Amino acid sequence: MRRCLNKIMKNILVTGGAGFIGSNFIRFLLTSNEGISITNLDLLTYAGSLENLQGLPNSQHYSFIHGDICDQELVEKIVGENKIDTIVHFAAESHVDRSISGPGAFIKTNINGTFSLLEAARKKWLAEGQRHDVRFHHISTDEVFGSLTPQGPPFSESTPYSPNSPYAASKASSDFLVRAYTHTYGLPVTISNCSNNYGPYQFPEKLIPLIILNALQGKPLPIYGDGQQIRDWLYVDDHCEAIWQIILRGKVGESYNIGGENQPANLEIVNTICDLLDEALPKSPHTPHNQLIEYVADRPGHDRRYAMDIQKIKKELGWQPRYDLKQGLSKTVQWYLDNQEWVSAIQKQKEYQGWLDKNYTQRGK
Ligand code: NAD
Ligand code: DAU
Repeated sequence: MRRCLNKIMKNILVTGGAGFIGSNFIRFLLTSNEGISITNLDLLTYAGSLENLQGLPNSQHYSFIHGDICDQELVEKIVGENKIDTIVHFAAESHVDRSISGPGAFIKTNINGTFSLLEAARKKWLAEGQRHDVRFHHISTDEVFGSLTPQGPPFSESTPYSPNSPYAASKASSDFLVRAYTHTYGLPVTISNCSNNYGPYQFPEKLIPLIILNALQGKPLPIYGDGQQIRDWLYVDDHCEAIWQIILRGKVGESYNIGGENQPANLEIVNTICDLLDEALPKSPHTPHNQLIEYVADRPGHDRRYAMDIQKIKKELGWQPRYDLKQGLSKTVQWYLDNQEWVSAIQKQKEYQGWLDKNYTQRGK
């Protein structure tokens, strides 16, 4: 890391930067930090799109490479030629339902892909001895901790791992690999375990954008099981800020929990979205939108409750979420209303429609 006119200079490799959180992170960095150069490596799977990166500010500091994180030769070449000193690793298969119907891609990308990045970093960064000016930041999830009981304390950084879905198991495996590389080889790593994100550019297979888009079209709003499952919702800008603070000031070898301290049941989230749409679109034929709610078969092995204890990142790094759920949801609903071109490009994808139909049919509807 070099310093230039009091600005931090970093050559950052972002993996998965064409996905939901990665694209928000790139926009956040280019907006708020000068003296940064970003290389985005993304395979552009169904979940990644260059549309998510349209109109980036300061785009002269940004470049895109279409490729697979499992291609270790490619990753080594990028790290060497672009003089990468910071890897921020988002790339993953990220949807729990898809990990249940097809776990193979999750093992490949989330485990083998992370391994290939770690190997590239080890070879390029540690070949000539220990370096302290580099960082491998791994983005992980609260799902590695398993499911909380209704009254149990929230997950802390020392909660034992107990992943329940193939997705969670693949992320837990990658976390362990990252941990092993710092312990064994001295690779300077940090890990963040974050709760459910929402906000602009989220692929509409995930609960919040799926509900918004189905409601706009007058389609059923599928609630898995009894809808009383609890997640800890975080607006994506807050996540980006937290990641950046960890990269700048987090302790090497440590993991940090990130969460929104917003923990409503799924049904409450869906009702809030319906209320926001009723307000925004009083003349819609689908108002009141909550009439579209439909209870469907539950997700197999569905985790009941997640909640994050975020005292460590608050105390050590002074980070805390800025958005409460109502503010974040209003901004999100408005973003989807204002970005119909982005929405219809996804809705035209055969793969997406096929997935939605299959998922809905499998749930007995
Ligand atoms: P996403 O599915 O929206 O995006 C994933 C991106 O990775 C896509 O652009 C995709 O093209 C790319 N990708 C997939 N396989 C690849 C490969 N083999 N090589 C290169 N690129 C590849 O995911 P997201 O929701 O933005 O999640 C990003 C990261 O954050 C993931 O690691 C996920 O586990 C983690 N996370 C997500 C959440 C959440 O609520 N979305 C919460 C906590 C942690
Ligand atoms: O907790 C962090 C995780 O959050 C991330 O690691 C994952 O990448 C991300 O996908 C997300 O996982 P979830 O499974 O919690 O997110 P999803 O949006 O799929 O579901 C949220 C909750 O809503 C969950 O309890 C399942 C329920 N649900 C979901 C869908 C898609 C429904 O009731 N109906 C639906 O149609």
